[in-house]
Amino acid sequence: MSKPVLFSGMQPTGKLHIGNYFGALKNWVELQNSGRYQCYFFVADLHSITAEFDPAQKYKQTVEVVADYIAAGISPEKSVIFVQSQIPEHSELAWVLNCITPFGELRRMTQFKDKSASQSENINIGLFDYPVLMAADVLLYDTSFVPVGDDQLQHLELTRTIARKFNSQFKKIMQEPEPLLTEVPRLMSLSDPLRKMSKSMPEGCLFLDDAPDIIRDKVKRAVTDSEAKVVYNPTKKPGVANLIRIYRGFTNLSVKEIERKYADANYGVFKRELAEVIVEGLRPFQVRKKLLMKKSGEIDRIIEKGRKKAQKKATEKMNQVKETMGLSKKVTKKLPK
Ligand code: TRP
Repeated sequence: MSKPVLFSGMQPTGKLHIGNYFGALKNWVELQNSGRYQCYFFVADLHSITAEFDPAQKYKQTVEVVADYIAAGISPEKSVIFVQSQIPEHSELAWVLNCITPFGELRRMTQFKDKSASQSENINIGLFDYPVLMAADVLLYDTSFVPVGDDQLQHLELTRTIARKFNSQFKKIMQEPEPLLTEVPRLMSLSDPLRKMSKSMPEGCLFLDDAPDIIRDKVKRAVTDSEAKVVYNPTKKPGVANLIRIYRGFTNLSVKEIERKYADANYGVFKRELAEVIVEGLRPFQVRKKLLMKKSGEIDRIIEKGRKKAQKKATEKMNQVKETMGLSKKVTKKLPK
């Protein structure tokens, strides 16, 4: 029996931060290294054009995300790493699935509602159809497991609905995928601990590529409180609690252990040591990424290798879909006499 397929991806929309690392990449690497799955990690560039974008930057961002995957530990030998727009079957299957997806289901999607509110001058059909393209991504590879954050759970539930609908309407050829939910630490902005860490507020955001001095500076300026006690209390001390969570992410020390370690320390000492923990924690990633970006043609070769493998699977599945739906001639296998 071949191993079950595990599939996930990210949009190329700019620099990754430590929230993306703890929320996705770190977990993907562990799943890959468990050896229990056939892993596909892709870059969802077609999803990313549903929001405003700069054509001059788009492919660069795609290459950057691939480099981030690899620097974080995704291996082109162990996993298939590829770019969505290079496999035309993603769009092709999305169209077919559009024709069995109820309009009413899509209209309920909370991410669509949120995004139409935040980009009200650009509510395009792609934004509305985003979850169907996502279903196509997943179903094209006979995926069993999809590691996602809780913001994508509703989309995955829709993918399951579409798979079931296809199976009952035509023939049971769609694998119903299950989400793999990971516990993701809620990382907040260093400059406003009541808001999520986000690249739209760069002062409070720790990017995976930040140089040591930038990290030290951002941590030094992090908003805390006037109590000067390193104690975990998310409601009364959201800033300090956030710093403790970051510390925990990089060291795996428990909250209690961190509190004990800094029981007699003021915020200055705690922040200085936290900054070094982050600098050291990101160093292996940064070293690997620099080496990778320096080797000319290396990332292109990795992307091309992934494209070939993904294309093989996608072609097979799309042929099966067309045959099942009566879009192509039946290839009836004759039994030998
Ligand atoms: N929508 C996902 C996100 O923004 C990215 C994505 C697109 C994805 N297609 C996918 C994730 C398929 C998992 C599986 O995070």
